[in-house]
Amino acid sequence: MNDVKIAPSILSADFAILGEECAAMEKAGADELHIDVMDGHFVPNISYGAPIMKSLRKVNGMFFDTHLMISEPLRYIEDFVKGGADRITFHLESENDPMEVIEKIKSFGVRPAIAIKPGTPFEKVVPYLPFIDMVLVMTVEPGFGGQSFMADMMPKVKALREIIEKEELSVSIQVDGGIDKNTIKTAADAGADIFVAGSALFKQDDYNKAVAELRAAAR
Ligand code: DX5
Ligand code: ZN
Repeated sequence: MNDVKIAPSILSADFAILGEECAAMEKAGADELHIDVMDGHFVPNISYGAPIMKSLRKVNGMFFDTHLMISEPLRYIEDFVKGGADRITFHLESENDPMEVIEKIKSFGVRPAIAIKPGTPFEKVVPYLPFIDMVLVMTVEPGFGGQSFMADMMPKVKALREIIEKEELSVSIQVDGGIDKNTIKTAADAGADIFVAGSALFKQDDYNKAVAELRAAAR
């Protein structure tokens, strides 16, 4: 299994000083910047899109982990590639053919990943594992930060970890939603290795301490 990665979700950042917020997370040693894109259609909330990312890309050197909570992801892949994405995660529940979206992302040399909502069984993502970089098991209903961690998603994480190990695939398992100092241990024990956290990082006073504490708890 890969080493633990901490991915701050900028959804909880102060957008008026977004560049500074992200620079502070980079300095605090966070591994990836998690960029939540919501269209008000696939999820009942609107966040931000590729132009915001593009501005951030100019001032931030972190790995950009883009979480698309949007309908028709295929239509927008190129925009997010141009925005500077290093990995693009789309939802299996969106209407496009997953293989087509994967191929499109890969054609730009960007890493593809698939997210599953709490109601989606892990079996649905298994056929795509050999073709993706990461699977995101949502631990809240996508759409909002600050919700409670759904521990009942852990059997999905465990099952996916077992398959990944057995098939000797190099696929990371990301968890997203309600991750904090306590819940991160549960998710790490189940087999997750990339941890998204919004509130548990950006709503803290000391980012260095917050990143270090999460990392220590996950190890
Ligand atoms: C929710 C987003 C998450 C969210 C996590 O739909 O995908 O990335 O920002 O926020 P917390 O860590 O506060 O649950
Ligand atoms: Zn997310």
